[in-house]
Amino acid sequence: KLPRLVDNFGRQVTYVRISVTDRCDFRCVYCMSEEMTFLPRSEILSLEELGRIAQAFTELGVEKIRLTGGEPLVRRDLPELVDFIGTLGLKDFAMTTNGSQLPRYAEALKAGGLKRLNISLDSLDPEKFRRITRTGDLQKVLDGLDAAIEAGFEGIKLNAVIMHGRNEDEVLDLVELARNKGIDISFIEEMPLGDVSDHQRGETYCSSDEVREIIETRYPLTASNSETAGPSRYFNMADSKSRIGFISPHSHNFCGDCNRVRVTVEGRLLLCLGNDHSMDLRPFLREHPDTNEPLKAAIIEAMGLKPEQHHFTNDGDVQIVRFMNMTGG
Ligand code: GTP
Ligand code: 5AD
Ligand code: SF4
Repeated sequence: KLPRLVDNFGRQVTYVRISVTDRCDFRCVYCMSEEMTFLPRSEILSLEELGRIAQAFTELGVEKIRLTGGEPLVRRDLPELVDFIGTLGLKDFAMTTNGSQLPRYAEALKAGGLKRLNISLDSLDPEKFRRITRTGDLQKVLDGLDAAIEAGFEGIKLNAVIMHGRNEDEVLDLVELARNKGIDISFIEEMPLGDVSDHQRGETYCSSDEVREIIETRYPLTASNSETAGPSRYFNMADSKSRIGFISPHSHNFCGDCNRVRVTVEGRLLLCLGNDHSMDLRPFLREHPDTNEPLKAAIIEAMGLKPEQHHFTNDGDVQIVRFMNMTGG
């Protein structure tokens, strides 16, 4: 019988999101504060250790791995890790990226077996883009998107966090871009992770219902029946193959069929994005360099720590002190 990871609520974990760095070349207002300190090198896992984690989870029945950050592509030699994970026989292998390094890396990632890319893009106006990302260059991301399309990934999806007063007027432009490129787009409700004090979350929070209403002024949406074990609810437009997703942690509780856990670049296994329940996997890597068995036993034990659900509110209060760049969302 194949091993399975099952928590106390009967949910099977088949999906792991591995953060490969806490660093990023952007400083998005909802994710980071302007001045961030990053982990010293001694605290982060090597690419080899990250590979061992991916392998251990795969041997425990995980079918999908997503690499996240920070920005995964600022980690040096990341394509080597992609090459290794690409050999593990996963059903799905994906990455979430801000896109800025894709002109350089898209082809190598595709060649290494990466199947799908999510690219974050909140604005198509260079100045607004700059105000949201603080250090980002829109043109690089648009070039990165084209490089990804050119490389021929199985799936490319845009992610947009919509905020009042910042980019709510761009919802339809973002939908048009997805339609023109023939790709999907997800709209994400802002979540209260990390104390980003110079950005007032309570004032900018924009619900999925508001975004949907804007889209439906031009494109009526019908619920898509395509399978999603996850937070995204997908919709179709009548005249396009692009799908529209909504990730609504505030207005729509999807914890009941949660199938995922996360690993930070320090090797901390986080059982839920919206809670602090975790287990440190690093000792099991470092004290047992030649075998993954203790690591696997620790992962199995950690399933008992997975909490039933998150409790985000949208009043602007920070609920989790950890910044989003530690978990990649
Ligand atoms: P797939 O699962 O492959 O469809 O990708 P995704 O859309 O979940 O991944 P992505 O990395 O693009 O994340 C998009 C947004 O979804 C991010 O803001 C994540 O924080 C959010 N998200 C993903 N999983 C969860 C979750 O379990 N709980 C909550 N609250 N948000 C999540
Ligand atoms: N709330 C919602 N989404 C966020 N992201 C980063 N921080 C937050 C937050 N506080 C998004 C990014 C990226 C994805 C991984 O998570 O825009 O698309
Ligand atoms: Fe970087 Fe993504 Fe955080 Fe923006 S949201 S600062 S691109 S990690």
